Amino acid sequence: MSPAPSTETLRELVLLASRAPSAHNTQPWSPRLVRGAVEVSVIPSRTLPAGDPTFRDLVLSLGAWVESFAIGAAALGRRVVVEPLPALEHLDELPVTGPADPAAPVLRITAPSASTRAKPYATPFTPDDVRRRRVHRGRLRGRPGAFDDLSTLALPRWLSLRRLDDRAMGQLSRLGIAFTASRRTVADELLHWLRLSPAHPQYHRDGMTDAMLAMPAALARLSAPATRRAALRDPIVAVAGVIGRTAESLGRDAPLPPYARSLAASPPDAPEHLVLVADTRAAGVDETISLTEAMDSRIGLPERNVLEAGRVLQRLWLHARVQGMAVSPHSELIDSPAAHGILRRRLSLGRADIALSVFSTGEPVGPVARSPRLTDVTG
Ligand SMILES: Cc1cc2nc3c(=O)[nH]c(=O)nc-3n(C[C@H](O)[C@H](O)[C@H](O)COP(=O)(O)O)c2cc1C
Repeated sequence: MSPAPSTETLRELVLLASRAPSAHNTQPWSPRLVRGAVEVSVIPSRTLPAGDPTFRDLVLSLGAWVESFAIGAAALGRRVVVEPLPALEHLDELPVTGPADPAAPVLRITAPSASTRAKPYATPFTPDDVRRRRVHRGRLRGRPGAFDDLSTLALPRWLSLRRLDDRAMGQLSRLGIAFTASRRTVADELLHWLRLSPAHPQYHRDGMTDAMLAMPAALARLSAPATRRAALRDPIVAVAGVIGRTAESLGRDAPLPPYARSLAASPPDAPEHLVLVADTRAAGVDETISLTEAMDSRIGLPERNVLEAGRVLQRLWLHARVQGMAVSPHSELIDSPAAHGILRRRLSLGRADIALSVFSTGEPVGPVARSPRLTDVTG
C-alpha cells in the first residue's frame, strides 16, 4: 500500500483548491509540497489589513481552500488530515505586505489513501462542483426551502444557519455599503482589488472584474482609471466618504417591522439571506477550548474553529451550486459596527454567538461571470 499521494496528485488537488472563494478574490494562500504533504502559508500582500483586520475572512477562505482540497481527495478515494499549525494563531505577527514565509506555514494537509479503519472523506460534492461554484452579485431569484435540509452538510453542533428577513437585509446592506464608502482605508483597499478593464495587468489573475460585479460597461469604463491611479482615486474616495457617512447616520435608526412578521412577508421571489453563526460556548463544550483561547483570537473564536467554519461555508455555497443557485456574500454587514449591532439584535444573538458570514442565495438572473485565478493558464 502506498499511503502518500504522488506529487502529481498533490499538484492536481492544489490546483482544484485554488478555485476556492476568497474575500476580494485575493487568493491569500501559498501552498508548498513538502515530503508528501502540502503546507500552506499566508501571503501578507494578499491580506486585507483595512477590510479584514481580525483575519476572519482570511481564515474562512483558508477553510474553503481546505474543503475544496478534501473534495478533490475524496474523488480519488483519499481522506485528508488537516493539521492547523501554531502560526495560524499568530496571524497578527504577519507583515502587512510582502511574500509568504515558507518557514511559517499556518496548516499542513496530508492525503493518505483510505485504510479500512479510516474511510475516505464522505462528501456529496465533486471536483466539478468546486470548479463550477460561483458568486453572483446581480439579481438572485429566491428558491424557498432550498436550505431547509442541511443534513448532508455535516454542520458541527456549534455552527448554525439563521435567516434574515429581506427588509432588514436591505437596510443593513445599505448601512454596510455606507460603512465601506466612508472608511478611507477600506474603500482604498477595495479599489485596489477592482479590475474594471481588461487593460488592468492583473485582470486575468485575481481581484474582482467588471463582469464579476455585473457592472454596466459604461460605468466600468468611467471608473477603471481610478482603480489604477491614486491621484484619481483620492477625490472619489473623499466624495464617497461624505455620502457614506450621511447614509450611515440616516440609516441607523430607521424602524423595521417585527422580525417574524417581516420574514413571513418576504416577497416570494426574494433571495434567501442566511447568516452563519458560531456558538463559542457550544464549541467549547465540544472541543474543550478555553475562554482564554477564544479571547486571544481577534475573531472571538479560535482560528482552528474559524477554519472549520470556512469548510462549512464552502459546503453551504456548494449546496447552493448543486441546486443551480449562486450566493452573494455580504461581509460588510458584519464589518460595519452599526449594521452588525442591528443584525445581532434582529437575530437575538447571545453574548456567546458570533456572526461569521452573511450571504444571499438564489437562482442567478442573467449571466454569471467566472472569476480569475493566479493558477489560470492564459494564452
Ligand atoms: C470569507 C469571504 C468573504 C467574502 N465577502 C464578500 C463580500 O462581502 N462581498 C462580495 O461581493 N463578495 C464577497 N466574497 C466573495 C469573493 O469576492 C469571491 O469569492 C471572489 O471574488 C472569487 O469569486 P468566486 O467565488 O465567484 O470564484 C467573499 C468570499 C469569502 C470567501
